Amino acid sequence: MSLIDEVNNRRTFAIISHPDAGKTTLTEKLLLYGGAIHLAGSVKARKTAKHAVSDWMEIEKQRGISVTSSVLQFDYEGHHINILDTPGHQDFSEDTYRTLMAADSAVMLIDVAKGVEAQTKKLFRVCKERGIPIFTFVNKIDHFGRNPFDLMDEIEDILGIHAYPMNWPIGLNGNYQGIYDRASSSIELFEKDTTHGQRKLASTKGSADDPIFKELLDEDVHQGLIDDIELLDEAGDEFDMEKVKRGELTPMFFGSAMTNFGVKPFLEEFLRMAPKPQPRKCLEGVVEPTSDQFTSFVFKIQANMNPQHHDRIVFMRICSGKFEKGMTVTHRQSGKTLRLMQPQQFLATERTIVEDAYPGDIIGVFDNGTMGVGDTLYSGKKKVTFKDFPTFPPELFARIRAKDSMKRKQFLKGMTQLAQEGAVQIYENLGSMESYIVGAVGQLQFEVLEYRLKHEYGVDLEMNRLPYTVARWIQDNGHDYKELKNIDSAMIVKDHKQRVVLLIANEWQTNWIVERNPEFTFCTTPDQLAIDEPEE
Ligand code: G4P
Repeated sequence: MSLIDEVNNRRTFAIISHPDAGKTTLTEKLLLYGGAIHLAGSVKARKTAKHAVSDWMEIEKQRGISVTSSVLQFDYEGHHINILDTPGHQDFSEDTYRTLMAADSAVMLIDVAKGVEAQTKKLFRVCKERGIPIFTFVNKIDHFGRNPFDLMDEIEDILGIHAYPMNWPIGLNGNYQGIYDRASSSIELFEKDTTHGQRKLASTKGSADDPIFKELLDEDVHQGLIDDIELLDEAGDEFDMEKVKRGELTPMFFGSAMTNFGVKPFLEEFLRMAPKPQPRKCLEGVVEPTSDQFTSFVFKIQANMNPQHHDRIVFMRICSGKFEKGMTVTHRQSGKTLRLMQPQQFLATERTIVEDAYPGDIIGVFDNGTMGVGDTLYSGKKKVTFKDFPTFPPELFARIRAKDSMKRKQFLKGMTQLAQEGAVQIYENLGSMESYIVGAVGQLQFEVLEYRLKHEYGVDLEMNRLPYTVARWIQDNGHDYKELKNIDSAMIVKDHKQRVVLLIANEWQTNWIVERNPEFTFCTTPDQLAIDEPEE
């Protein structure tokens, strides 16, 4: 197959939702329809099945949340699909944001009873900023829930995006019987699920005018559907694919991941509309996915996926060209030439070695510490730098040290690896060789750090929270940072690239300090600093 065909077949997307909306269940059902798994976890076995599919780390099992993002791929009717599974926990969103950078579109999952929830809102905003198409799946329609019209209004009011229902649920609260497809004016009635969604659902399909449906549906249900459709056609938005592409209109689907209700129609319609890998901006211009030059960027790093081997895997999203196992690429940030050996793809806990991969695909490669999150890799001579990668200013800070000073070596190794992974930000405490300062976006990051240092490196931590909420990277503009004035209440630290960072109590004090030091530039994130050019 040609590179163009490979690109055309690819769909890479993330599912965004508030915890418990059913993301794990939907992901599992997509895998079921894609034939990647044959029996979805039954309701009883779900807790275990869930972890088998997308969670890796022990802490996730213990807490029942998904901390790291995983990548799953499967084929469906000629499409090669990559699903980026994003953690939904509100505290641990940095990893999620990065993952969204690797997606070409997003599926926003909403619980029919709960509507738009806090975490959905946050994630939606990131997708909206990126301008990627967002598809809405209203889940759990087998249950009592809100009126679909009210949900449409809520999406518009809270998220500021118009929703266009592609299909419409048939039936009353908790007694949904099928789906009406608006484009074809056809009805699909589903057979009752008797397997708790373990197997695909059988269905009866036909035109809405077919008298059979009048017979199959109760009279009031049938009439209710006709009234709803009339209202939608008259008062609703026009469908406009261009608006969808720009993230201004969200196609809306109804279903129930648990019972498989509406999963297949959603999957098929989604694949038809969702974008193939798109051109990406870089500092040097725009990279077309069908370009011969291989380019990719790192969006996630995970150490110790296999605790026995202490390996470090770098996940990258391919943006253009063909990837071939063992190929030689340039690491933009260090200027080093690297050979990408043993590239891997993942399904559940299984890894397979890939021979080749294409734009939109996610591959994992082993790395000994050269690559960082956000870095670019490319083949050939033409320089490429993907730059629009969000870093998030930490808002919580703590001083940490190993309880047992004999464990200093493991402590250092663990801290360095976890910082490279982006699990936390780590700063050198200028006054001390024994302790470090760590910065995080959410409290859970500290807990993960503590847990992982103990379980993966055997180090117990002593952790003291510090009273700072703001970090500023200092661009010295030729001055020595020691000349900074009025910083008695702040703390000076250095990040892993030896850049000077000021930790400050609050925004008010920050402004005060900034005003008194006009010769310095204060940056909210390190990516605002002038970038270091690697040596040629
Ligand atoms: P998450 O990954 O978004 O956090 O959600 P997850 O899939 O774990 O689903 C959260 C809960 O919602 C689960 O119930 C799951 O069975 C249920 N659920 C998912 N989809 C549907 C649906 O379409 N209809 C209904 N009625 N429920 C759904 P749980 O009680 O937390 O877990 P379990 O006991 O079912 O394993």
